[in-house]
Amino acid sequence: MFKIRDVIIEPPLVLAPVAGHTDSLFRQAVKGLGGCGLVVSELVSTEGMTRHHARTHHLTHFVEAERPVSIQIFGSDSARMAESAAMVQEMGADIVDINAGCPVKKVVKQGGGSNLLRDLPLLEKIIKEVRKAIRIPLTIKIRSGWDRNSINAVEVMKLAQDCGVEGLTIHGRTRNELFSGKADWNIIEKVKRQARIPIIGNGDVFSPEDAARMFRETGVDGVMMGRGVLGNPWLIRQCWAHLSGRPVTKTSLKQKANFMKQFLQRVCQDAPPPVALGKMKKIGGYLSKGFPQGARLRAQIHSAHSIEDFFAAMEAYLAESMPAE
Ligand SMILES: Cc1cc2nc3c(=O)[nH]c(=O)nc-3n(C[C@H](O)[C@H](O)[C@H](O)COP(=O)(O)O)c2cc1C
Repeated sequence: MFKIRDVIIEPPLVLAPVAGHTDSLFRQAVKGLGGCGLVVSELVSTEGMTRHHARTHHLTHFVEAERPVSIQIFGSDSARMAESAAMVQEMGADIVDINAGCPVKKVVKQGGGSNLLRDLPLLEKIIKEVRKAIRIPLTIKIRSGWDRNSINAVEVMKLAQDCGVEGLTIHGRTRNELFSGKADWNIIEKVKRQARIPIIGNGDVFSPEDAARMFRETGVDGVMMGRGVLGNPWLIRQCWAHLSGRPVTKTSLKQKANFMKQFLQRVCQDAPPPVALGKMKKIGGYLSKGFPQGARLRAQIHSAHSIEDFFAAMEAYLAESMPAE
């Protein structure tokens, strides 16, 4: 357990923000499986929020069962960031998180995301204005630096904590590394060792053993998981069992397939058909990793033209390929 001011994170395991995946439905599903102490929304544009774009309503939506919930905002205009943070507080979120790690070109070009790691005066201005605009806890998510020659996570952490940030997540890759190579956990350990605020470590935790190793090697207060959970929604629950000394129950393919069907049915109820179909293809792609002849299923669902096609392909695959248990 750790706390971000008065927000109790128990267990100390966090579902990462993953744009296009970790919406309220997915977060509810993961939270429902157990072991998850904090969920973070996908990044939400502060341009969109302050201009009242309809899409941002969906992105900021959460339900009580998800609590504690953190809403992540991104942008480069400090006034819009502050206004958006106040809106997030008004919505009743527990934490506001500033995105200073997103490597995507469109975000960086507009000055936000990981661009803030190479523009510390702007980052400082944003943090100070956001801090002034809200009473609830403020956190930040960063990468280790812009590139290998400018790793500055410790400096960024110190700046952030001096400006009133109350928790920091670090993904141990630079902006330019995107998702290549291995996350550098040494920089996570360095940041943790010098911080007064709670630190959440992130990057390449794909198994309960990885999570235990990250706690052990870096001393972090919490561990955040992203891609691992997309392929295995039980990952956080399994990590918690392992960390508590309980046996880890492996998920059977059948359980995974059932989860996939039930979850995808909820996606269809929640969104208009074309949006739901796009989401289902993405989520189905991740969830079917490890299925026998999963590539065949992925090819079929990717070419589905309708929700009916999608489910027909899935049912046919399951009937043919799932071993009887
Ligand atoms: C498709 C995708 C979308 C992501 N979207 C976000 C986002 O909205 N905000 C954010 O802070 N990080 C985002 N991330 C980064 C993850 O939160 C996490 O830092 C990264 O995937 C490393 O953790 P992992 O190895 O457990 O996946 C995204 C990652 C992926 C793969």
